[in-house]
Amino acid sequence: MTRSTITVTVNGTPQGPHEVPDAMRMVDYLNDTLGLTGTKFSCGIGICHACVVIVDQPDGTSRTERTCIQGAAAFDGKSIRTIEGHAKNGKLSPVQQAYVDHFSFQCGYCTSGFVNEATVLLENLKKSPIAKADVETAIEEAMGNHICRCTGYVRYFQALKDLILNQNGLTREG
Ligand code: FES
Ligand code: FES
Repeated sequence: MTRSTITVTVNGTPQGPHEVPDAMRMVDYLNDTLGLTGTKFSCGIGICHACVVIVDQPDGTSRTERTCIQGAAAFDGKSIRTIEGHAKNGKLSPVQQAYVDHFSFQCGYCTSGFVNEATVLLENLKKSPIAKADVETAIEEAMGNHICRCTGYVRYFQALKDLILNQNGLTREG
C-alpha cells in the first residue's frame, strides 16, 4: 500500500506532517487521525453531502468539498474548516444558532454538512448581496444536494431564510 505525507490546516491549526495510506478517505483522517468526529460518513458515495467540509481558497473564496469520495492526500496543503471550528468562545455561529432556534434537525447526523454549506452561502452573499426576492432560490440552489432523512428540510430552509433576510449586508433592495 502506498502512502503519502500530508499537512493540512484545520480550523486555523496546522496538522501534520502525517503519513497516510493513499486509500485513506479524508473523513477517516479527520475522524480517526485528528479525532474530529463532527464530520460524518453517511452514504459514502458522494450523494448525501453529510461529509462536506469548507475549503478556503488562496483568493479568499471558500467552497465545500466531500470527504467521503476524496482521499486525505487530496487535501495536502489545503486550509479547511470543519464543524468543530464554527463556535467561538462557547458561542454558536449565526448559522448554528439559527438551526437551533428553528429546531431544524432531529438526529443531527446531517447537520455539520448543512452548517458548512450554509456558512459558505452566507460568505458568498456577504461578497455579493442578492435581491430579497432571490433568497429562496439561492438557498435551494446552495443546499439542494444535502440529504436529511429526519426533518423534511422545511425548518433548515426557514432558518436560513430568516437569517439571510435579517442579517445586514446579505441582501439588497430590488
Ligand atoms: S457521506 Fe459523503 S456524500 Fe454522503
Ligand atoms: S436530522 Fe437526522 S438526517 Fe438530518
